[in-house]
Amino acid sequence: MILNDIRLYVDDRPDEEIFRVHHGVFTDPELFELEIKYIFGRTWVFLGLESQIRKPNDFITTWIARTPILLTRDAGGKVNAFVNACRHKGSTVCRSDQGNSKFHTCAYHGWAYDAAGRIVDIKDRPMGRYGRNFDSLDHNLLPLARVQSYKGMIFGSLSPDVPELGEFLGDLRFYIDCAMEQGPEGMEFVPGRTRYTYEANWKLQMDNGLDFYHLTSTHTSFLDVQARRRLGEGNLEARQFDWQRRMAQEAGTFQFANGHSATWMRQAEPTKRPIYPLIDEIRARVGELKADWMLNMMRNATVFPNMQMADSTSLLIRTFRPITVDRTEMSVHCLAPIGESVERRAWRLRQFEDFFNPSGLATPDDTVVYEDCQRSLKSQPLGWLQGYERGLDAITPGSDAMAKSAGLSTVNCVAGTFEMQNEVCFHPPHREWVRLMAAGIEGRKAYP
Ligand code: FES
Ligand SMILES: [Fe+2]
Repeated sequence: MILNDIRLYVDDRPDEEIFRVHHGVFTDPELFELEIKYIFGRTWVFLGLESQIRKPNDFITTWIARTPILLTRDAGGKVNAFVNACRHKGSTVCRSDQGNSKFHTCAYHGWAYDAAGRIVDIKDRPMGRYGRNFDSLDHNLLPLARVQSYKGMIFGSLSPDVPELGEFLGDLRFYIDCAMEQGPEGMEFVPGRTRYTYEANWKLQMDNGLDFYHLTSTHTSFLDVQARRRLGEGNLEARQFDWQRRMAQEAGTFQFANGHSATWMRQAEPTKRPIYPLIDEIRARVGELKADWMLNMMRNATVFPNMQMADSTSLLIRTFRPITVDRTEMSVHCLAPIGESVERRAWRLRQFEDFFNPSGLATPDDTVVYEDCQRSLKSQPLGWLQGYERGLDAITPGSDAMAKSAGLSTVNCVAGTFEMQNEVCFHPPHREWVRLMAAGIEGRKAYP
């Protein structure tokens, strides 16, 4: 470690309006190893949607940092999550992204497991002359310590010492509700997903997911294209929002407990959202407040540590998986109501691919700047970075009027115009990073 106390990495002095993050947080391989252990090994991590494993024996594979995970619905309908590693010698048990299978057979020596993770065949068992001890061993797949769902989102934890999922999410649940309650039959990922890696630290995405400040400098080509579309030129089928109008709106951020953070911005073009034709049904089902937030508010949220939801140009869920200190895998899914009509699905997809696809008008810009940051941070250490104090002077402790109007209990809030583009919404995940790292290093439980 570059600094001798983990607490020094985030210089957090609210009374003096100071918040700085040390470059080592993004570049130190030793800290990275501790993150895998004390953050990804000891908190809830998003695994997938219940609708991805709708039928008995459906499965998906995913990751908690470096740990491969097999998520199944077993024959009895129960959701299970296992380490996707064979008990024989550790090889990958299920190599597919998703599918439906009663059994998963390891490709190495052929041990087979059912969808509930039970061993069903040890190949050539009778001829094996195993010793006396062997039958007393548990040969089943290793289950995760905790698996719970909220509104169709499944989370897992490698550690048993985590709070109940609902308590962990706190009032960020309102943001999840506003995403997951849009469809009368629930929500699903549009088939297919984009997955790509970038050569930089996972926390650059963690910050960027709520970063309004970069829009007018990083995404200038996107904004130029929008300006031309405003004049009636180009791909109007994308039904892109008028960002000039958006930037004139009220905006703000909420800080939640346990590392979560969220932004909101009023948006003036509700008719461009693909849920617009269904808003009466939605209002009747979820109530006025949530329907208003679904339609009239641009919402971005970070669910600590590595999942983000955005309902800005389109409704998306992304995860960013740490692979090494300077390599991260992004998985991005377009979220949509189950049973959506072909027309509205096409409408949604044109908006999604316009901005978010790796071939879209925004995503490559972000990836390039993360890699620029990482290159400099590791070759020319900058000490404490200055990108966290914008908006510090505008903090309202506790819940402000906007939070209260949505019934949210927040740690603190900022509200203003879009131009403030505050960076204090990045504080909760970095504070939680220090808290969990210190607890791990000092041998304390992650959650008291
Ligand atoms: S590692 Fe799976 S059967 Fe040998
Ligand atoms: Fe961006």
